[in-house]
Amino acid sequence: MNTALTTRRASRLIAPDALHGPPTLEAHLRRYGPLSLGGGPGAQGRDRLLAEIERSGLTGRGGAGFPTARKLASARAADRPALIVNAMEGEPASAKDRLLVGTTPHLVLDGADVVATVLGAQRTVLCVADSAPEMARSLVRAQQERTGRGRAGDAEVRTLSGRYVAGEESALASAVAGGPGVPRFRPDKSVPLSVGRHAAVVHNAETLAHVALIARYGADWFREVGAAEAPGTCLVTISGGVECPGVVEVATGAPVSEIIGLARLSSPPQAVLVGGYGGTWLAGEDLGVPFAPGELSRLGASMGAGVLVVLPGGTCGIQETALVARFMAGQSAGQCGPCLFGLPAIADDLAAIADGTAAPEVLDRLLVRCGAVAGRGACRHPDGVVRLVRSALEVFSADVASHVHGHPCRGRAAPSGLMAQSGLMGSFRDGWGR
Ligand SMILES: Cc1cc2nc3c(=O)[nH]c(=O)nc-3n(C[C@H](O)[C@H](O)[C@H](O)COP(=O)(O)O)c2cc1C
Ligand code: SF4
Repeated sequence: MNTALTTRRASRLIAPDALHGPPTLEAHLRRYGPLSLGGGPGAQGRDRLLAEIERSGLTGRGGAGFPTARKLASARAADRPALIVNAMEGEPASAKDRLLVGTTPHLVLDGADVVATVLGAQRTVLCVADSAPEMARSLVRAQQERTGRGRAGDAEVRTLSGRYVAGEESALASAVAGGPGVPRFRPDKSVPLSVGRHAAVVHNAETLAHVALIARYGADWFREVGAAEAPGTCLVTISGGVECPGVVEVATGAPVSEIIGLARLSSPPQAVLVGGYGGTWLAGEDLGVPFAPGELSRLGASMGAGVLVVLPGGTCGIQETALVARFMAGQSAGQCGPCLFGLPAIADDLAAIADGTAAPEVLDRLLVRCGAVAGRGACRHPDGVVRLVRSALEVFSADVASHVHGHPCRGRAAPSGLMAQSGLMGSFRDGWGR
């Protein structure tokens, strides 16, 4: 796999010379200027910072796309909450947080300082996965330069088990509190997360890097680019049928076809998986859609963790989806029946369809199983799998029909293993993981 960075359309977060290694604090401050922690001291200053973040329209970049200011406003109601920085990047097809933390750690730490100030946070914990030790090293190195300069310099860096569900926010809060890194049952999601006796708030690393820029340059600057509903830039990891897989930074709202073009297509795409392994397939004819929440949702998709996996022509989308569904079934935390038993059953049905060994009624059973699992987990892991499978059955419906009638499509003879390759593990190690 070619692991070079592809062209970038914007370079707010990732500097053009990023692969030369993370800048020193001095170089970082030369590039971005000093971090202003708000328009004045005390509660008023914090209010002004929060108002600026709200006006910016920043939405979370960890997957759910929730408005950042709204989350901060409710967390502020708690007494000195804990801030958890989510740099777990459990999504196998995503490498954006690794690139960001590896090349621009000071921006993430700046953002953590701003949010900790707004919240009056009692502590900040930076969480990375054990599968990416270079991220912890990058953060610790950056922290050493910041001793005595803000809370993030003294924040705890925690290396946690990097399973897919470990980055879910309640799993992270549980692990930080010393418990198992699996999602908690939260019947009422409006009840804040907690770590010990304190409330906790979880923000994705990229979200915090944007906060650092908003604190410096203001909401108007932030909104100068991107879609009005989710302004700014975003990091997108492109993989699959492209010559230059990697991470690009683009303005939100750029057409999906244009974004994947930055990674140089090896052939006209048959479809693109949008959002991540728990995302949605978009057919080739829909790729003109802007990469923005509203437009994508009309096609049943979302930006997710900023992932685009390109499926080239001549590849079987059903087989590729079956591989992902099997992987995702194996990632269940094993706490909820529909997830523990339903996901393997869904993966089995899809595998049988992919192989051309399924009786026609298996398709109906698969749809019933999807319906029985959706919305029934303590976390949204099973919902992601159902979304992925349903979209595959729709986008590749002609192939599905052939498969269930015993005529698997051309891709069957030579499965590309695209999904198995799409995880960009190690992609950027040569660039910055020293
Ligand atoms: C199964 C599952 C896994 C997740 N893994 C991650 C992850 O690895 N990193 C991340 O930032 N968010 C992950 N999320 C989303 C987090 O729960 C949470 O929404 C996010 O960290 C909030 O940050 P944001 O508001 O800045 O986006 C995951 C969600 C689910 C349901
Ligand atoms: S839905 Fe699945 S992954 Fe989520 S908590 Fe339940 S068993 Fe774990």
